[in-house]
Amino acid sequence: MAGRHFLQIPGPTPVPDRLLRAMHRAMEDHRSSAFPALTRSILSRLPQVVHQTKGEPFVFPATGTAMWEAALVNTVNPGGRLLAVRFGQFSHLFIQTARALGYQVDVLEEPWGEVADPSRIEAALAADTAHEIQGVLLVHNETATGVTSDVAAVRAAIDRAKHPALLLVDGVSSIASLEFQFDAWGVDCAITGTQKGFMLPAGLGILYMSEKALARVDTCTMPRAYFDLRAMRANNAQGFFPSTPALSLLFGLDEALTMLLDEGMAAVAERHRFLANGVRAAVNAWGLRQCAKRPEIASNSLTAVMVPDGHDARQVIEIAFTRYDISLGSGLNEVAGKVFRIGHLGDTNSLTLAGALSGVEMALCDAGIPIMLGSGVGAALQQWRVGA
Ligand SMILES: Cc1ncc(COP(=O)(O)O)c(C=O)c1O
Repeated sequence: MAGRHFLQIPGPTPVPDRLLRAMHRAMEDHRSSAFPALTRSILSRLPQVVHQTKGEPFVFPATGTAMWEAALVNTVNPGGRLLAVRFGQFSHLFIQTARALGYQVDVLEEPWGEVADPSRIEAALAADTAHEIQGVLLVHNETATGVTSDVAAVRAAIDRAKHPALLLVDGVSSIASLEFQFDAWGVDCAITGTQKGFMLPAGLGILYMSEKALARVDTCTMPRAYFDLRAMRANNAQGFFPSTPALSLLFGLDEALTMLLDEGMAAVAERHRFLANGVRAAVNAWGLRQCAKRPEIASNSLTAVMVPDGHDARQVIEIAFTRYDISLGSGLNEVAGKVFRIGHLGDTNSLTLAGALSGVEMALCDAGIPIMLGSGVGAALQQWRVGA
């Protein structure tokens, strides 16, 4: 098809031309005396994305899934007990990863479409009077259902329970798009990848560690090899990496940091809120429901839309892809067939999203879901019109 494909899934997100150009470079010697300048440019600026002033960031050739593992094996001793909240596919997979590593995970179940309930976390931690629980696992933005948990409220709950557990936060679909206050929210480990808010291809995993989490790295008795932060720290201190770095992606990340920090992280978060408001207005105008059970927890980086009973969201997604050249996110696990997801994070703007919503409208109509063509687009444009 002529024209650009609309990659409207919640990651990977479209890569801006500026970042494609930044990555289009000849390879260089990653042991040369010139190389540390790139490492330092990245590692010195990554903390600003999440408002981190203490602790350190780490970058691995890896993805978000791998950073779950990296955070755990460097801070939690073998067989250690953890507390997690499950409210979607990614919180489920975070738990699965921890269990596969041999940890015991106490799970607080929430309905899919809901978020973590701080009072239940507080009660679970208060009941652990022996302080066996070593960490609380929390997905900030559940990409499967389009909801955002309140990390600050979870930290407050941990503090009210006077519990020493670390707070390990998955920020894969929030960091570099939604507000993320690493220091102020008392986060100990924050993980992400490059294929969402950073607007790059998948391939780098990013792990932010607090001083408290870093203090565990040396004493943690969990066996680890590739993800051993001791080796990474020692190399990073000299401006290098223990193994061959993913150089193209590092060039891209360096440029992405310039783009994000030039815009300012508050402005980035505000842009995502503004765009999300338009998409939500479109969903309302179609008369459809979001998977998010309450408006105040709806995510600003993606919207998960429920199709009416008797319809299959997979059909909408397939029609959108084959007839209108737009990719929408599918429903995962419990919400498979019930939900399609519109990604609106990264390098996108109101006009791109207006085009995307047009594609969604045509696909919905073709799939026999009764919506009025133009209704959602019109509602979104009312939100986005500068003079409105
Ligand atoms: C919230 C969340 N966590 C973790 C992951 C897994 O990350 P990756 O696919 O980079 O391994 C994803 C992927 O979409 C995600 O959205």
